[in-house]
Amino acid sequence: MKCSHSVAAGLLLLIGTQPALAAGDAEAGKAKAQACAACHGADGNSANPEWPNLAGQNARYTSKQLADFKAGEQRNNPIMMQQAANLSAQDMADLGAYFASLAPAGGFVSAERLALGQRIYRGGNQETGVPACIGCHGPNGQGDPMAGTPTLSGQKVTYTVSQLKAFRAGMRANDRNAMMRGASRRLTDEEILAVAEYVAGLH
Ligand code: HEC
Ligand code: HEC
Repeated sequence: MKCSHSVAAGLLLLIGTQPALAAGDAEAGKAKAQACAACHGADGNSANPEWPNLAGQNARYTSKQLADFKAGEQRNNPIMMQQAANLSAQDMADLGAYFASLAPAGGFVSAERLALGQRIYRGGNQETGVPACIGCHGPNGQGDPMAGTPTLSGQKVTYTVSQLKAFRAGMRANDRNAMMRGASRRLTDEEILAVAEYVAGLH
């Protein structure tokens, strides 16, 4: 009896704290995030190695960090304590939702997107006729120096995305036998981002 009572009390406590994790509104968060752009980037991807990327981070984690900075006890970075000082719980939730909705540029990769990128890289997309990249760029993305096939591993995501889109559009056409124009023709934007993120971490 004693045991189930404390479980019930614990549940009540959890339910009681739910409002602090109010559902975030990404659209509202966008307006509130203007104050963050100077350091975390206009698209949530920071240009300074000491300022973390927020784009693509999960909403709950971000809003909790903001609450922790505001409390200033267990996470007490002076810059962020000041930034978080006037945020309400709703602001934090909105900011979390907003940053979660942004595409990470070389930072975080969702497991889902990583799996898609790996599938494309290793097997292509048989339904739409995208060839596997591995056949030419190799199992570790190192390319083939003898054939002049470039290494892709560790390359910046944004750059890889731009090149794939350029090949797909035919704007970049320096590939012998149209190898890359052919390989990219049927890639979707989502597949391009996924495969670019996958090769960025492939070694
Ligand atoms: C003047 C620069 C600056 C501004 C403006 C700024 N931040 Fe930060 N932010 C930082 C720095 C520096 C850190 C790293 C703090 C640390 O080392 O703990 C950080 C860390 C964070 C983190 C923790 C990230 C993680 O992965 O744990 C979050 C979340 C965050 N900021 C959100 C925001 C939000 C939301 C705003 C706007 C309301 C904002 N920041 C405005 C500089 C800034
Ligand atoms: C038939 C062989 C072949 C296949 C298949 C292939 N590639 Fe390529 N790829 C090449 C060659 C060759 C180049 C270099 C073209 C040139 O000379 O500019 C290249 C260039 C690239 C570049 C430009 C790299 C840079 O640094 O600018 C990217 C990005 C790329 N490939 C990604 C992919 C992806 C992703 C796939 C799978 C969807 C893929 N490739 C499939 C042969 C291939």
